[in-house]
Amino acid sequence: MLTNRVCKLIKRPSPGLVTRDIFEFSDEPAPEPGPNQFRIKIEYISLDPAMRGWMTDAKSYVEPVELGAVMRAYAAGHIDASNNPDFKVGDAVQGVIGVQQYALSSGKGIVKVDTKQAPLERWVGGLGMPGWTAYFGLLDVGKPLPGETVVVSAASGAVGSVVGQIAKLKGCRTVGIAGGPEKCRYVVEELGFDACVDYKAGDLDAALRAAAPKGIDVYFESVGGEILDTVLLQMNLFGRIPVCGLISAYNATTVPDGPKNLRVVLTQRLTMRGLIVFDWADRVPEANRELGAWHKAGKLRMREDIRSGGIDAYPEVLNLLYTSGNFGKLVLKV
Ligand SMILES: NC(=O)c1ccc[n+]([C@@H]2O[C@H](COP(=O)([O-])OP(=O)(O)OC[C@H]3O[C@@H](n4cnc5c(N)ncnc54)[C@H](OP(=O)(O)O)[C@@H]3O)[C@@H](O)[C@H]2O)c1
Repeated sequence: MLTNRVCKLIKRPSPGLVTRDIFEFSDEPAPEPGPNQFRIKIEYISLDPAMRGWMTDAKSYVEPVELGAVMRAYAAGHIDASNNPDFKVGDAVQGVIGVQQYALSSGKGIVKVDTKQAPLERWVGGLGMPGWTAYFGLLDVGKPLPGETVVVSAASGAVGSVVGQIAKLKGCRTVGIAGGPEKCRYVVEELGFDACVDYKAGDLDAALRAAAPKGIDVYFESVGGEILDTVLLQMNLFGRIPVCGLISAYNATTVPDGPKNLRVVLTQRLTMRGLIVFDWADRVPEANRELGAWHKAGKLRMREDIRSGGIDAYPEVLNLLYTSGNFGKLVLKV
């Protein structure tokens, strides 16, 4: 009999990094597709910073994962059994599938992907949800104009790497912020940003002023905390700040300090706007078309950080996101 290894959430997390005891790992019989259903054999599970929030029951943009349910996750794999005429055995697909080896679906939220165009794992990365986030967050919320300066935090990561490359394609001066010399070198030499500042090297304010001498018009925010406070003081009049994420606070054990320099939002007439990628669900085909064309033309480079260990490695691999342990889109190989 085919076995399905599953990871279920059984407790709400305490503040701090995610711990193994909040999950239950078990072997179950692999589910058999009923009428109109198909079964996905999962090959890659996407690790997303938002997962930490999905585990808690605080008010948010989606319902929390229920206790006892399979942990929610974007994933990609191939169909290995099907009673659905639109999804055939052998089709490659991605969608919100869960931390498990096999999943049933009748097609809702599952998208077919082309593994000739890009490897399977990339469809949960730069060509999937993180890519859509970058595309809509930068273009619809950040509204960059040619010649403006765009600063991107978590610049070497899944979302940030795409944001910076799109900003370059739109004719902006593009400056990344990343942790460590190796990530900064990658951001400039391989992704083509104009500059990258290592926030771990000290004096972020001076380094950023040198890299963005005309001030900052768009700050694509993924981190929060001290980085946001430093950037705020360098924002130009009528600057835009798409707030995509605040990862420095996701595992905070004490209530984080609010932005100290919020006054600048007033004096510089800034627009700060939160964004959730789901708000653009009806425009995903547009993002796929644009991202796909840039990728095919070699104008959009992507890097995946693929970890082994299977379903049981989920908690430890997830925590790499919150400790700067990943380098590129973090994916767990099943
Ligand atoms: N709003 C939405 O719809 C949406 C959708 C997808 C993602 N997001 C958000 O986008 C952000 C990036 O997500 P991703 O999937 O692309 O992850 P990622 O950038 O590939 O990985 C996370 C990175 O965050 C940085 N980081 C972690 N803790 C930090 C800290 N305390 N201070 C500064 N940097 C820190 C690390 O990079 P360094 O090594 O450079 O520090 C780490 O590699 C997250 O905030 C996420 O929640 C939002």
